[in-house]
Amino acid sequence: MAGKILVAYATRYGSTLEVAERISEKLEKLGHECDCMDFQDVEDIKKYGGIVAGSAIHMGKWLPEAKEFMEGKRVFLSTIPVVLFSLGITLTNPTDHVTRKALFATDEICQYVTPKEIKLFAGRLIRDELIDADRDLVILAKPPFGDFRDYKEIEKWTEEIESKYFRDLI
Ligand SMILES: Cc1cc2nc3c(=O)[nH]c(=O)nc-3n(C[C@H](O)[C@H](O)[C@H](O)COP(=O)(O)O)c2cc1C
Repeated sequence: MAGKILVAYATRYGSTLEVAERISEKLEKLGHECDCMDFQDVEDIKKYGGIVAGSAIHMGKWLPEAKEFMEGKRVFLSTIPVVLFSLGITLTNPTDHVTRKALFATDEICQYVTPKEIKLFAGRLIRDELIDADRDLVILAKPPFGDFRDYKEIEKWTEEIESKYFRDLI
């Protein structure tokens, strides 16, 4: 079945947007038509034959607009391949405990959709960019600050999901 792929993201400080853009560019290089946009800007979900959906993890959860989207569109999303990714700063040190906690963020989302897979990526956290309230919160967890996104890993994963779930959309 032919169809566009939607790469949808929820972000507060832009790093998830940039990862979504890289995924979308890679899918286009592999021959797909893609739209890359904020969950809040998606108008007509029915024109898509597949979705890659991602959110920053904030306080252990996906951002609320991402959850709202998955809940609101769950009936249509049950008819197309859905792949999820999350960005978190804790994933710079992906111990079993950290990985379990990061996956917990999408447990809530999996009430609404049955993803083909869920990928976790280390994110980006820049102290001087944070609004005061966020800085006060994150400092308590003593996170590493910096940009830990690995674009080689992101592109490799995009190739894998393309061949597994989206190839027949071209
Ligand atoms: C208020 C706040 C809460 C966060 N909570 C978590 C968390 O619970 N787990 C985690 O791994 N990262 C957490 N992070 C880090 C972000 O997930 C990470 O920096 C991500 O790359 C940010 O994405 P964005 O730039 O798209 O907003 C938090 C960051 C902020 C600002």
